[in-house]
Amino acid sequence: MTMTREDVLRELELLPAWKLRESPASRAHSIAQTDAMEGKQDAVPSPVETPIEKLLSEIAQPDIQGMDWQQLQDCVRNCQSCSLAQTRTQTVFGVGDPNADWLVVGEAPGAEEDRLGEPFVGQAGKLLDNMLAAIRLKRGENVYIANVLKCRPPQNRDPNGEEVQKCDPYLKRQVELIQPKLILALGKFAAQSLLNTQDSISSLRGRLHQYHGVPVVVTFHPAYLLRSPLEKAKAWEDLCLARDTMNGL
Ligand code: URA
Repeated sequence: MTMTREDVLRELELLPAWKLRESPASRAHSIAQTDAMEGKQDAVPSPVETPIEKLLSEIAQPDIQGMDWQQLQDCVRNCQSCSLAQTRTQTVFGVGDPNADWLVVGEAPGAEEDRLGEPFVGQAGKLLDNMLAAIRLKRGENVYIANVLKCRPPQNRDPNGEEVQKCDPYLKRQVELIQPKLILALGKFAAQSLLNTQDSISSLRGRLHQYHGVPVVVTFHPAYLLRSPLEKAKAWEDLCLARDTMNGL
């Protein structure tokens, strides 16, 4: 069974009185911050994790790899692993058929996705639906759509390494549970994160890759295609590669 931070605190009889934010290190930090704001002190040192905080964060680390679909959804919904938890409206887990043969992976939710809780609902989403229709696929029918990050980066900035690292186990577990036959990676960021490479999208397109044993086809992100419509011909080639690969499996 997965233990939450609250479960661990209750087991240690530290609830309800014990609060992480009231730790001496955090309190010292907020006092220092107030002093700095009032001009009494220049630099504010970062709060140092106390041994009990460190122990708790280690024990409370959820066992993502053992989760079922519902547990994984709940875990993502409550995730506080990185600072995006503070700025998101909601997490965006994914949408579609959890037993799909096709898994489409994008970068991260944008403003509309953050508002509605579903991936690819804006203009790029419409183009994605058309791309899927071109190979006779439909959102939700034998297709699951997810992102590398489950939370929106503020101002749609690029996700950073720590965010990807914290979120990757969720996508990995989604792949294990869905067991797709093929993954379509949309754009440089999804491709580089899934394939753990810094290679350019041009060099990754046109051939098959693997993500934990599942074939991966890389293509351009629909948002990029909206800005660069001449690249749609190449995206069509990628979709044909994906379709032919699936048909040959
Ligand atoms: N772009 C993405 O990569 N994912 C979304 O969900 C929306 C836009």
